[in-house]
Amino acid sequence: MKNEIKMKENDFIVSKTDNKGIITYCNEIFMEIAGYKEYELIGKNHNIIRHPDMPRAAFKLAWDFISSGKEFFGFVKNRCKNGDYYWVLANITADYDSTGKIIGYTSVRRKPNDQAIQTIIPIYSKMLDLERSSGVKASVSYLLKFLEDNNIEYNELILSLQGEK
Ligand SMILES: Cc1cc2nc3c(=O)[nH]c(=O)nc-3n(C[C@H](O)[C@H](O)[C@H](O)COP(=O)(O)O)c2cc1C
Repeated sequence: MKNEIKMKENDFIVSKTDNKGIITYCNEIFMEIAGYKEYELIGKNHNIIRHPDMPRAAFKLAWDFISSGKEFFGFVKNRCKNGDYYWVLANITADYDSTGKIIGYTSVRRKPNDQAIQTIIPIYSKMLDLERSSGVKASVSYLLKFLEDNNIEYNELILSLQGEK
């Protein structure tokens, strides 16, 4: 049986990657919750903690945002080393050098609103189904249509689900 690990109110899970999503830094709480040692994470692709319940379109959107310098907010289900899982509200931003070039990314994650997770679960599940039947494009389109129907921008939707907008 896989258990859900719940973040605490004051927990912040932080990691940094290079331009390709290879982990260059992670904080103690990251290692504690995900159940990995530092040497098992540094130099690895961040997808090491990807949970199979996460739709690909969510990550496509994230990369589209951050590679164009736009911050990204998202509810993400992650997988611990032992198969347990934990939900986070992630905020990913780009890191720049002194010439303004993107040299990597930083993600800061905090405890997500429980109600928001209950709302996002069926949306991700629908997206996953679409990815299996029709591909990632169909899943992105579904999400964009959902935003259009609700007349809301993506980051705005996430923050309003969290109860912050
Ligand atoms: C700074 C940063 C943090 C990330 N954090 C996570 C994370 O916590 N969980 C996750 O599954 N993917 C995270 N990603 C996205 C991964 O790089 C990757 O796109 C995703 O896991 C899907 O991987 P795949 O396309 O190889 O399956 C992060 C990316 C960046 C740049």
